[in-house]
Amino acid sequence: MSNSLILVGTQWGDEGKGKIVDYFSKQFNAVCRFQGGHNAGHTIYKGDEKFVLHLIPSGIFYDHTSCFIGQGVILSLDSLLEEINQLEEKGIDLNGKLKISRYCSLLLPLHAKIDQLREDTKNSIGTTRRGIGPAYEDKTARRSIKAFDLEDSDLLESKVNALVDYYNYQLETIHGSDPIDNLEVLQDLKETYQKAAKYFGDVTDSLEAIHDNGGSILYEGAQGTLLDVDYGTYPYVTSSNTLATSVGIGSGFPKSIYADVLGVAKAYTTRVGAGPFPTELFCENGKKIAEIGHEFGATTGRPRRCGWLDLVALEYSAKLNNLASLCITKLDVLDSFEKIKVCIGYELDGQEVSFKSRLLHKVKPIYKEIEGWNQSLNSFNAYEDLPAQAKQFIELIEERTKTKVSLISNGPNRNDLILR
Ligand code: IMP
Repeated sequence: MSNSLILVGTQWGDEGKGKIVDYFSKQFNAVCRFQGGHNAGHTIYKGDEKFVLHLIPSGIFYDHTSCFIGQGVILSLDSLLEEINQLEEKGIDLNGKLKISRYCSLLLPLHAKIDQLREDTKNSIGTTRRGIGPAYEDKTARRSIKAFDLEDSDLLESKVNALVDYYNYQLETIHGSDPIDNLEVLQDLKETYQKAAKYFGDVTDSLEAIHDNGGSILYEGAQGTLLDVDYGTYPYVTSSNTLATSVGIGSGFPKSIYADVLGVAKAYTTRVGAGPFPTELFCENGKKIAEIGHEFGATTGRPRRCGWLDLVALEYSAKLNNLASLCITKLDVLDSFEKIKVCIGYELDGQEVSFKSRLLHKVKPIYKEIEGWNQSLNSFNAYEDLPAQAKQFIELIEERTKTKVSLISNGPNRNDLILR
């Protein structure tokens, strides 16, 4: 049995993973990000102080927890430095607590520029406009500037020149935009890297040492299963593999794959950006969920699309991630609904189809309606004491996903959690 845990989102991101990671972080010796970039984001309150983190794991607030950014993460040095400054200004010492893989591909301001220009065309998919797609493209196309490239100025210069030439061609011919200056990119990169250089190292070796000494590691997934570049609602996806199975590659530590997987799902569904969403609500119920659940993006501030819980999608995610257990967040958002719907199937031309049909833009959801519990769940501490309707809701999820719900979040505060 592994004493480590992989935590992943099972929907289209924004499942409330931040609070759950924060809750678990203190129980682990290390927390490691393994994919995505600063398109992720969560807000954490430490006492009255507010922190917004996009790259650095929230374990950074605990003295005994080391934080790692594995090579599967696409790294913006600007975003990283902003977070480091934010933490240092509030007296949090990162020395010896943060290590970033030297093999990370870097996300440069030019990636964000291209992302934004593309998003301003009719082919927009509603990205976070942070440059994630172009930066992952470069990684796969073998054009990326890797963090270790900053250790050799000659090599760096030739790589930067090639990259800037590549993008200038696109900027000028496709977007009619001004070219970028090679020297400025190079200078900027060197300066930012200098400030962060001490945090780079070998993440694989560190994770191995923690593991071999009996330490526990929490692998923190970003985005969600349905945004996975291979298994999500392509092309309306992010550009990384968000599934738990990508942890070995992304963390660089092979034994990470033996950790149990905890999936996080909201008690309803949300999505930001474009793409199919079978249970999306366009009526008052959708607005009510958005209002009560404060459904606005932590990274972009965009309003999220809202809908009922989709068990067809959740079953798909549970299987793909080989979930050991589930955490249901924001159950309390449904407190005041007289009736609650749960999607139990998709219909297409009179036939029932699965998530794998990939014709999600055409399917009609088949709903099971249950009675709401019509009371605040906030004061409950034990699963047994929950109203029968809330337990019925949870049991429906367990039955369909064949996964135990081991944790329920019943309020916005850190301690609003019911363990089973
Ligand atoms: P990108 O990752 O910025 O390229 O955006 C691609 C798609 O993933 C868009 O629909 C984004 O809204 C979505 N996305 C990316 N990161 C997150 C996240 O952390 N939460 C929710 N959606 C995300």
